[in-house]
Amino acid sequence: MIRLETVSEKTFSSVARLKVSPEQEQFVSSNLVSLAQAWLYYDFAKPFAIMDDDTVVGFMMLDWNEDERTVGVWRMMIGQDFQGRGYGRAAMEEAIRMIREAEKFDMIYLSYVPENTAAQKLYASCGFCETGEKIDDEIVMKLFLTDQPKVGYALVKEYNIEEIMEWTDKEKAKGKTLPPILSSAELLQTAVKNKQVKMFLIMGEVIGLCIDDEIVLSDEYAEYLEQAKEKVNA
Ligand SMILES: CC(C)(COP(=O)(O)OP(=O)(O)OC[C@H]1O[C@@H](n2cnc3c(N)ncnc32)[C@H](O)[C@@H]1OP(=O)(O)O)[C@@H](O)C(=O)NCCC(=O)NCCS
Repeated sequence: MIRLETVSEKTFSSVARLKVSPEQEQFVSSNLVSLAQAWLYYDFAKPFAIMDDDTVVGFMMLDWNEDERTVGVWRMMIGQDFQGRGYGRAAMEEAIRMIREAEKFDMIYLSYVPENTAAQKLYASCGFCETGEKIDDEIVMKLFLTDQPKVGYALVKEYNIEEIMEWTDKEKAKGKTLPPILSSAELLQTAVKNKQVKMFLIMGEVIGLCIDDEIVLSDEYAEYLEQAKEKVNA
C-alpha cells in the first residue's frame, strides 16, 4: 500500500535522485527544482514523497490553499523504474482522499502538457474533467468535490492582478459601478501593494472583491453576499 509522506531529512535524497525517462522530462520539472519551489512558496506548497513501505517511488507537490478553498496538484511523478505498476493512480487516489478528509476544499485542479497522454488518461480516470482553460499552453483539468461550494476569501497578490483586471473588465462591460481603485491597473497595483484588496472566490473563480471594507460581488453571485460579509467580519 502506498502513502504520501511529507518530504523529510529521511526521504530528501531519494526524492532528489528520482528521475523520469528522458522523453518525459518535458512533462515535469526535476524534483530538485520542485523542492526549491517548496521552500520559496512555503505558505502553500506541500511536497510529498510517494512511499511504498520504505521505498520512495514518486513525488507529488500540492498547492494547498485553504483561503481559496482549492488544492492544485502542482507536481506529480513516478520514478522511471516504478512506472506502470499502479503507483500513479494509487498516489492520486490517496491525495484526493486526504483533500476530501480535510473538509476545507471544493475543487482540485491540475494541468498537463498536451502530448502527455499517460497523465491525461490517469487524471480522467480519477474523475478530473477538462474545462477549456489553459495555463501556459498546458491543459487544465478540475475535479469538483461538491455541488455546494463555499466562498473562498484571499488577499490579492501581485500575480493575481491580471485575473482581477479580467474580472473588472467583465463587470464594467455589464455596466456595474465599481470602486475608483478599479478604474486603472496602476491604482489597483498600488492598492494590492498596500494589501487593501481581497478577493472572493467560488471553486477557484473570482466572483468579487473587498476593497478596504467595501464588498463588490458579480450580480450572478449575489446569493453569496451573506457568506462574503461573514468572511470580512470574521
Ligand atoms: C503519469 C505518471 C505519473 C503515471 O504514473 P504510473 O505509476 O506509471 O501510472 P499507473 O501505473 O498508476 O497507471 C495509471 C493510469 O495511467 C495511464 N497510463 C500510465 N502509463 C501510461 C502509458 N505509458 N500510456 C498510456 N497511459 C498510461 C493509464 O490510464 C493507467 O491506467 P490503466 O493501468 O488502467 O490503463 C507517470 O507516467 C510519470 O511520472 N510520468 C512522467 C512525469 C509526468 O508526466 N507527470 C505528470 C505531469 S502533469
